Amino acid sequence: MNDYTSTNTIPESAKINLEKKGFLDIELDPSLDLFAEIERLKKEKKAVVLAHYYQEPDIQDVADYIGDSLGLAQQAEKTKADMIVFAGVHFMAETAKILNPSKKVVIPDLKAGCSLSDSCPPPLFKKFKEQHPDHVVVSYINCSAGIKALSDVICTSSNAKIIVESFPESQKIIFAPDKNLGAYINKVTGRNMLLWNGACMVHEIFSLEKITRLKVRHPNAKLIAHPECEDPILRIADYIGSTTGLLKFTQSDSASEYIVATETGILHQMMRASPGKTFIPAPPENNCACNDCPHMKLNTLEKIYLCMEYESPEILMDPELRSAAKIPIDRMLEISQKAGL
Ligand code: 13P
Ligand code: SF4
Repeated sequence: MNDYTSTNTIPESAKINLEKKGFLDIELDPSLDLFAEIERLKKEKKAVVLAHYYQEPDIQDVADYIGDSLGLAQQAEKTKADMIVFAGVHFMAETAKILNPSKKVVIPDLKAGCSLSDSCPPPLFKKFKEQHPDHVVVSYINCSAGIKALSDVICTSSNAKIIVESFPESQKIIFAPDKNLGAYINKVTGRNMLLWNGACMVHEIFSLEKITRLKVRHPNAKLIAHPECEDPILRIADYIGSTTGLLKFTQSDSASEYIVATETGILHQMMRASPGKTFIPAPPENNCACNDCPHMKLNTLEKIYLCMEYESPEILMDPELRSAAKIPIDRMLEISQKAGL
């Protein structure tokens, strides 16, 4: 047994740095087989690794479950594991903790946040809500526990339409925090929800001009887009759906080429599921890798190993906030289950 597997006591220097850095910065033996070590830790600690499609391929390969936000919440609710290792961003791990207060939920990097969640601070949203007392609040799961606690029901990109349609047409609704998803749901349901002005930094960066040029060069390629994209992109998309929706579409559809307007991590599963097909990441405005989510990509295999070994950083929550945030999540899970999702 080497130094790294013999103890799970966090070295003092790493403890001091944890708060500042958000992850355990402990030097690892480069010969360590991280894949084998993570498998060992899963068994030893009765841990389950849940990963979002936007995680890097190595992380997806060690995960016990890979999915979209709804699938991950559903897995988190039903897992029998003692420890949930959440390879995703903070609001996702927080949702897992809300659903499992007695389980230990660890995240590889506490600083893996979300620009969309950050665009909706609870004190500001509370004031906004107070200005519209006759509205119910539907919040996209990409928000903090503070926003969830102020919401009537949560939704994800795969159930947003069903959740909104669960209210009578006459019901006034505030939709937060994603204005693009909200506008798309307004369009497909004919509702007129009041939208919070938030957006995702990754899905707002796609260039209509470059995608149009790409479509000319690849006339048979279908454009598939996540509903967090802006309206001009969604207007020219052949299919719009959550990450799971996009993946399933590429498996069942007859085309052999796709331009994919969402975070690039999903391409790993698309290529694996349909090895004969071509997947082209939709180009962003600048010559940057802006279609890689900088928050999702903070997680690494090393950090996964370290957070499992030392069971830190852990998601800890105020019990009152947790209970208040659970009500609208439970409501979402119930409506989704009834709808067969
Ligand atoms: P889904 O997981 O619902 O597809 O949403 C994507 C996303 O942006 C997660 O942060
Ligand atoms: Fe948030 Fe966008 Fe990253 Fe998803 S892709 S975690 S919405 S910043």
